[in-house]
Amino acid sequence: MKLKYFSHSAFQLTTDNGKVILIDPFLDDNPTSPVKSKDVNADYIILTHAHSDHLGDAFKIAGRSGSMFICVNELANYCSSKGFKAHNMHIGGGYNFDFGRVKFTIAHHGSKTPDGQYGGEPAGVIISTGGKNIYHTGDTGLFYDMKLIGEMVPVDYLLLPIGDNFTMGINDAVKAVELVNPKVAIPIHYNTFPVIAADPNEFKSKVESIGKKCIVMSFGQELEI
Ligand code: NI
Ligand code: MN
Repeated sequence: MKLKYFSHSAFQLTTDNGKVILIDPFLDDNPTSPVKSKDVNADYIILTHAHSDHLGDAFKIAGRSGSMFICVNELANYCSSKGFKAHNMHIGGGYNFDFGRVKFTIAHHGSKTPDGQYGGEPAGVIISTGGKNIYHTGDTGLFYDMKLIGEMVPVDYLLLPIGDNFTMGINDAVKAVELVNPKVAIPIHYNTFPVIAADPNEFKSKVESIGKKCIVMSFGQELEI
């Protein structure tokens, strides 16, 4: 399976059975993304919440690819209201799709659509496919239940924000790694804009100092996982 990082919170996961899943595809207005929305297609689009830097270009991509949205109920209804296919879920629930399992977790943040509608609760998401569990925390502050989340689903790859201001900064994110106890931590949601400038190598060395592994993915990099 392949995990590609476009920068910010945006990823593309290509599963062993060839399904393409985008998470939070903020590309065209993202100054750090090497890829634009016209360059990607998706079978599924998972949204952690409705903010414009996460909903991003999802409608453009889904309009072209016929993608199915997977998100919390209120945001899924919003996608449906725009004419797109959506699978409604909610926090704490999991569902088995044809590529694997998706489970939504809590996240402490907000969620309003770019046109001002309530997007439901913000969320994190655990994708289980190809024998691996990938936990994308979404935008969130640090919370102690991350320990419980990691106990219930052993996490292989933890994708978590380090950019501060809107989310966890580096020190809180290191604590989150300690709580979730993943095999590998991957920093996200930094250096897109000056207000979320952060040094991913500072995060990496702090993660390594607590005995955990960190991979700093460059923007556009694809990992075989
Ligand atoms: Ni946000
Ligand atoms: Mn954000």
